Amino acid sequence: MNILFASSEAHPLIKTGGLADVAGSLPHAIRNLRHDIRVVIPAYQSVLKQTEKFTLVAHLELEGVKQPVRILAGRLPGSAVTLYLVDSPEHFDRPGNPYTMKQGSEWPDNAERFTTFCRAIEALALDSAGLDWQPDIVHCNDWQTALVAPLLERHDSRPATVFTIHNLAYQGLYDWKVFKTLELPADFWGTKAMEFHNQFSFIKGGLVFADWITTVSPTYAREIQTSEYGCGLEGLISHRTDKLTGILNGVDYSVWDPARDPHIPVQYNARSLPHKLQNKQTLQEHFALPVDDTTPVFAVISRLVEQKGIDLVLDIVPELVKQQAQLVILGSGDAALEAAISDAVTAYPKHVAAHIGYDEALSHHIEAGADIFLMPSRFEPCGLNQIYSQRYGTVPIVRHTGGLADTVTDTTDETLEANTATGFSFNKATYTALNATVTRALGYYRQPAIWQQLVCTGMKQDFSWKRSAQRYLELYQTVLEQRAVKATARPLILQSLL
Ligand code: ADP
Ligand code: GLC
Repeated sequence: MNILFASSEAHPLIKTGGLADVAGSLPHAIRNLRHDIRVVIPAYQSVLKQTEKFTLVAHLELEGVKQPVRILAGRLPGSAVTLYLVDSPEHFDRPGNPYTMKQGSEWPDNAERFTTFCRAIEALALDSAGLDWQPDIVHCNDWQTALVAPLLERHDSRPATVFTIHNLAYQGLYDWKVFKTLELPADFWGTKAMEFHNQFSFIKGGLVFADWITTVSPTYAREIQTSEYGCGLEGLISHRTDKLTGILNGVDYSVWDPARDPHIPVQYNARSLPHKLQNKQTLQEHFALPVDDTTPVFAVISRLVEQKGIDLVLDIVPELVKQQAQLVILGSGDAALEAAISDAVTAYPKHVAAHIGYDEALSHHIEAGADIFLMPSRFEPCGLNQIYSQRYGTVPIVRHTGGLADTVTDTTDETLEANTATGFSFNKATYTALNATVTRALGYYRQPAIWQQLVCTGMKQDFSWKRSAQRYLELYQTVLEQRAVKATARPLILQSLL
């Protein structure tokens, strides 16, 4: 199959969260299964700075886009996957974050930027860019690429479309005035299309028009059909339930494996756990915390947003201090959460340390050095850090939701007996529930034999991409077959009418 995989970020070139990890690794896994998958992302300034070996392969004049757009081609670093960059300097040649300005607010022209990106993907999908390559499937991810489905819907000989929801909370909502400036077909506005409560909703493009919808865990696929998790789109999503599949994300163990991780001071595996302790010491030193092997070190690595339940972590800080634990936080995002974390560091300098910012190498060091990873998310489509944590022998504490529920097995007498326990989970997003779970985990932490069993069971888990990549391929096949049936059914119906 020929597959075009469209994303607004891809590791290692540009990353703000887990979408980049997925876009940087799933295509590689699909290519290993011998399919021609190519990735397309915007040519952000920081991406262009890292990629010298890109060649100009096309100039595009796109409807509604003032300046011509260039397509550059090269390789996704560390793989043989072809990467296309959509080079529209007025939209992407600017410093910093792909979505936000320095102060954290959205770039004011985001609707226009990602409409341009989608129009360029449409041209690649129809082979009107002159690359002599046409995908059978266009796989879009999140709202930034969701308009591709309705744009392609207008063409008879179009590829099939798959739309993956990585996070339903980000929808790309803009008012009518903005919609008018995008010069999109007028019928894109309307409740059967992308209108949503009097706004233009990019994500609805994918949800209404894609041939198939997926999301990144089976539990989240069920949750988003309920009012608690559906962000107002639960009706529409339930309506498409027969075309909705939850496929759990995989992880790339060539990047996230303590046995060969270049970012950590001392590499280790399940048979050399004392080396993990050396990473704990260097982590404590790095954060100027008292160096002590027996002190439990809790960790958080996260975008600092409401989704992640960081407020709950801050609520339990006094309890962690009482229990003589340490807490290390790496994150950036919401200004109020950043300030609250700094306050906690000031109040308890011997127990709480933080790095406010984005630091890839440090995130690996924290995974290697911590004992317990905290992820009390209010919702979590999949979540990757709880999976990385298991491979690093850092036992996760998670809220039982979305992908967290699908990847962490709570510790009970039964799961210990069956050797399946990999962490701790709780149901309610409350201080009381998190606190009780932390106390429960610390009870086991103080029993070294059981703790070692938990660590080793986690390290043995296999969440590599192979199985999930295979599932995407089966799904692509189903979607293609379904479209072929539709195409042959149409003339038959016409004949019978005649
Ligand atoms: P989400 O995509 O919702 O942010 P995931 O758990 O799927 O959550 O993925 C988050 C990814 O981003 C992980 O690879 C994590 O290590 C990384 N990450 C988040 N915040 C930071 C940070 N401040 N510094 C470095 N890496 C970070
Ligand atoms: C989103 C979700 C996260 C998921 C990631 C990759 O950002 O918040 O749960 O792991 O996408 O699919």
